[in-house]
Amino acid sequence: MEVKKISKKYRIMNHSIQNQPKVYIKTFGCQMNVNDSEYIIGQLLKLGYSTTEDISKSNLILLNTCCVRAKVEQKIFSLIGKIKKIKESNPDVILGICGCMAQKEKENIFERAPHVDFIFNPSQINNLENIINNLAKYGGGKYISCDDTPEFSLNHIPVKRESKISAWIQIMRGCNNYCSYCVVPYTRGPEQSRGASEILSEAADLAHDKYKEIFLLGQNVNSYGNDLSQPVTFSKLLELLNNIKGIERIRFTTSHPKDFSFNLIKTIKKCHKVCNHIHLPIQSGSSKILKMMNRKCNIDYYKNIIKDIRNNIDDIAITTDVMVGFPGETEKDFTDTLNVFKEIEFDEAYTFIYSNRETAVASLLPDQVPLQAKKERLWKLIDLQKEISAKINKKLEGKIFEVLVDKKSKRNIENQFSGRTGTNKTVVFTGKQDLLGKLVKVKIVKSTAWTLYGEPIG
Ligand code: SAH
Ligand code: SF4
Ligand code: F3S
Repeated sequence: MEVKKISKKYRIMNHSIQNQPKVYIKTFGCQMNVNDSEYIIGQLLKLGYSTTEDISKSNLILLNTCCVRAKVEQKIFSLIGKIKKIKESNPDVILGICGCMAQKEKENIFERAPHVDFIFNPSQINNLENIINNLAKYGGGKYISCDDTPEFSLNHIPVKRESKISAWIQIMRGCNNYCSYCVVPYTRGPEQSRGASEILSEAADLAHDKYKEIFLLGQNVNSYGNDLSQPVTFSKLLELLNNIKGIERIRFTTSHPKDFSFNLIKTIKKCHKVCNHIHLPIQSGSSKILKMMNRKCNIDYYKNIIKDIRNNIDDIAITTDVMVGFPGETEKDFTDTLNVFKEIEFDEAYTFIYSNRETAVASLLPDQVPLQAKKERLWKLIDLQKEISAKINKKLEGKIFEVLVDKKSKRNIENQFSGRTGTNKTVVFTGKQDLLGKLVKVKIVKSTAWTLYGEPIG
């Protein structure tokens, strides 16, 4: 009886079944994970699945996880706990865990949540067809697929992109930097670049499919190509992509200050499709803390890059990531961060409270900052950044920007759209016809710290 039940359950994984099985997927974490989910869905559609947003109607539940901070991990474990009830009322449902937490926690997930059926790590996203077929063969039991694939390729892997306007392209995976607070090198493995010809052909296909913008992804895009048998620099890759007809905008993230070369600054200036926006995580304004973070550059080095960027590229927007409450961060170190923020004036900052990750070496450091102090520092920094962003945006009132329209109004107001400037600012405006996917000139009439409001011209 039991055997029969299990085999029926796993037959759902087999695309030959008559009723189209449904997958519910929830994604946590960064853009890389969101793009991984697009590949996961692409492959499942090919296997005969359809997607559902109703978890109770699904045959397969997939959680594409993140573990960069403890809070998100707790949230995921609690969701896995809730799914147990769904599985109790419908034992045929299959639950898979993938993404960074799947790699970090592996067997621990099965121990804490025995109702999980299978696990695979981020380097397996191009291998999903195999995993699903193996699972069907397995006919029950627990299944883990976490071996690193030798080469990073997404060639011919089906992908179901969320947007028809802007597309992510992963140019590398993994990270070699081992910032002392960070789990990513452990969850995504060592840095591996994708071959330039594969990236160029993906971009050409996207142009053919009328995509306007490509967004290059990697944990440290500036070190792209170092590991290739025929090394290609990131600057060279940008130049090659800049020549692709039909693509109007090129964005990239994330840059690491230690690898941000002057040559790259010249390339961004020269290549007119490369947007005037650089996301350059600072992490802290204190050289002492940066050293403990193993960021491999001090604050003067960082400030000099900003100077070089601003002296060479007009109207460039610079955004950053920053953390408060790293172990050993004193009030003086935090004041250094506030002062650097006042001096640099970033367009926007993603602010985080340091989260102790037992996999990363900073968890062994003494002088952990109490949570209340961390929170107070975060609020102070957010308030300061809000003031700076509002001041910068205020100066943009009256100016005209080219906006790539990527969304209709959330509130369903007729012909109200939002889009992004090359400097990555959100602009909301009302047009006279459907402008989705178009590049539109918009005059800014009003601003807040987070949004610009405008009127289309011409
Ligand atoms: N590779 C990118 C992004 C890494 S994760 C980079 O180097 O910037 C995105 C951001 O999360 C980081 O920039 C950092 O600010 C934050 N982060 C990473 N680990 C963290 C931790 N343990 N606690 C709090 N924030 C963290
Ligand atoms: Fe993490 Fe540092 Fe690598 Fe970014 S560069 S992924 S913060 S180790
Ligand atoms: Fe991204 Fe989270 Fe992994 S930020 S790289 S999904 S740990």
